[in-house]
Parts: sequence; structure tokens; C-alpha cells
Amino acid sequence: MDTFEPQIVAFCCKYCAYAAADLAGSMRLAYPPNVKIVQLPCTGRVDIFHLLTAIEDGADGVYVAGCLEGECHFMKGNFRARKKVEYVKKTLAELGIEPERVEMYNLSSAMGPRFAEIAQEMTDRIKELGPSPVRTETV
Ligand code: FES
Repeated sequence: MDTFEPQIVAFCCKYCAYAAADLAGSMRLAYPPNVKIVQLPCTGRVDIFHLLTAIEDGADGVYVAGCLEGECHFMKGNFRARKKVEYVKKTLAELGIEPERVEMYNLSSAMGPRFAEIAQEMTDRIKELGPSPVRTETV
């Protein structure tokens, strides 16, 4: 299905990924418009419920982008986020949904190009997987 444009939700820590998205913008780096960003004070605040609800509400892919390991401003927020992402992956697999629809990334605020790369990487991955089986209509 080559006209498929995935809807992807990115939960981004304001100290790193969100700042990196800003930097990518200032650097005029293009990244797919498929990615909608939700800013968080730290990825430790993301909840399993948020990730599953995004999928349930029709997102084809979801990712969490937090500070580099050891750089979280709240110590272990990004480690907690990774565990939650792993849990959601397992849950999706049990439900027969591709766990690759959910991912965790770590980056710094200086990594604008990496932010753009991740957005492209996830968009390509989800395009390959096709629409989420949960998605019923255009969301
Ligand atoms: Fe960025 Fe915790 S402050 S992941």
C-alpha cells in the first residue's frame, strides 16, 4: 500500500529529544510530517497506559525519546521508560500486533540530525509494517 501515510506519536523529553527536534528545525533538516510530538518533562513520566492508548486511538507507531543513558535529569527516568516500552512490546506481541510498532530511543539535545534520522527510521519501519491492525478508520 504505497499511499499509506503512517501516524506516529513520539513522546519526547523536553531536555533532549524535544530540544533536538527544535535544533533539527533550526538546522532546516527535513523529517517526515507523520510524527506528532508530545513533550514530556522526562520520559520517566510516560506511562504504559499512554503508549497503549496511542495505539488504541489509531497511531500506527509510537516511540519514546529520552536523554542518553546516565544523562536523565531525574536520574533513572529514561531507564524506567525503556522498561515500560519493553513491557508494551511484549503486550502487543501477545495481542498479535507487531512489537516493532513501539520503540525507545536515547539522544541528546545536540543531536538534531539524529532526531530527524529517528523520525525517518520509524516512518520507514511503520510504512513497511502497514497500517496498525487496531486502526479502523482514518484517525
Ligand atoms: Fe530526559 Fe529524564 S530528563 S529522559
